[in-house]
Amino acid sequence: MKLPPLTIGPFTAPVPLVQGGMSIRVSTSDLAVPVAECGGIGTIGGSSIPVEELKADIRKAKQATRGIIAVNIMFAMKNFYNLVMGSIEAGVDMIVTGAGFSRDIFKIGQETSTPIVSIVSSPAFAQLAEKMGAAAIVVEAKEAGGHLGTDVALRDVFPEIRKVVKKVPLIAAGGITNGYEMAEMMDKYGADGVQVATRFILTRECSVAEEFKQALLQAEKEDVVLIRSPVGLPGRAIRTPFVEKLAGKEVEQIKECRYNCLKKCDHVYCISERLIKARDGDIENGLVFSGENVYKMKEILTVREVFDQFVSQAEAVFREPDALYHRA
Ligand SMILES: Cc1cc2nc3c(=O)[nH]c(=O)nc-3n(C[C@H](O)[C@H](O)[C@H](O)COP(=O)(O)O)c2cc1C
Repeated sequence: MKLPPLTIGPFTAPVPLVQGGMSIRVSTSDLAVPVAECGGIGTIGGSSIPVEELKADIRKAKQATRGIIAVNIMFAMKNFYNLVMGSIEAGVDMIVTGAGFSRDIFKIGQETSTPIVSIVSSPAFAQLAEKMGAAAIVVEAKEAGGHLGTDVALRDVFPEIRKVVKKVPLIAAGGITNGYEMAEMMDKYGADGVQVATRFILTRECSVAEEFKQALLQAEKEDVVLIRSPVGLPGRAIRTPFVEKLAGKEVEQIKECRYNCLKKCDHVYCISERLIKARDGDIENGLVFSGENVYKMKEILTVREVFDQFVSQAEAVFREPDALYHRA
């Protein structure tokens, strides 16, 4: 059987595979465009970069593809509203938002005919998002990379949310690394699509420094840990020397705020600075966000190869229903 398409508002992705937004220039148009060209939804990470830079990147992406381009903006950002309005002005197709819950965003979505996709980790927020007008909902579980809203595993939290979301597409995220797991989430758990992020960092097109990709490739299961983040949520990252210092409380409280990025920040360290360092290849001092199952991925592929793998593996499962969910 062929994978079904994923329709969000007026947009239909031929392949129900969403590339998760990754801020601080991890997912830029360099990654989002090939994803959109392959029939998925390409997402530009919109938090913690200047609004003008984000707008230029969205315009670049929209000129380069007729596929679907989304932007991910964290509600925790101080300039959330400006990032949202700038993205809409630049012609983004849809806005994905998490790390806090904005009620106002749905009004903006209605007024500008922009589908709003909510990232949630609990049935209560899923219900609220659907009631307020979300065009789709992403269920993000504890296996995800970056900031986490839950410590519950995907296969435990997803069924609870599946029960309460009635009308809009429901997308599963966190720890999905191949097409067998995609098929499992869709066929067995009733997801309408999946969102995947870490797998897409390990592509040729992702524009992070080579050292970032190597840190992910070399990570073993026990190297992926939870850290405290100034955002006020736990974050999932690779155990780098900086993360060890943080755990040992050897990191000095910052004195001067250079980025002024978060609505609320405890200033224990500067998250923007540490994520930028990692993105640019300083793994020693940087923060490398990663999904829990990164250790399962041992090669860098092209975005096209990732899509071909996901689609052929998922469709193989759909052809043999008793098959293979956990193969490879
Ligand atoms: C490096 C990195 C940065 C991320 N940044 C964001 C972000 O800015 N906003 C957000 O909502 N999610 C962010 N995420 C979460 C992803 O969008 C995605 O939902 C999650 O990582 C999926 O799990 P996976 O990486 O195991 O596939 C980030 C994840 C990673 C690995």
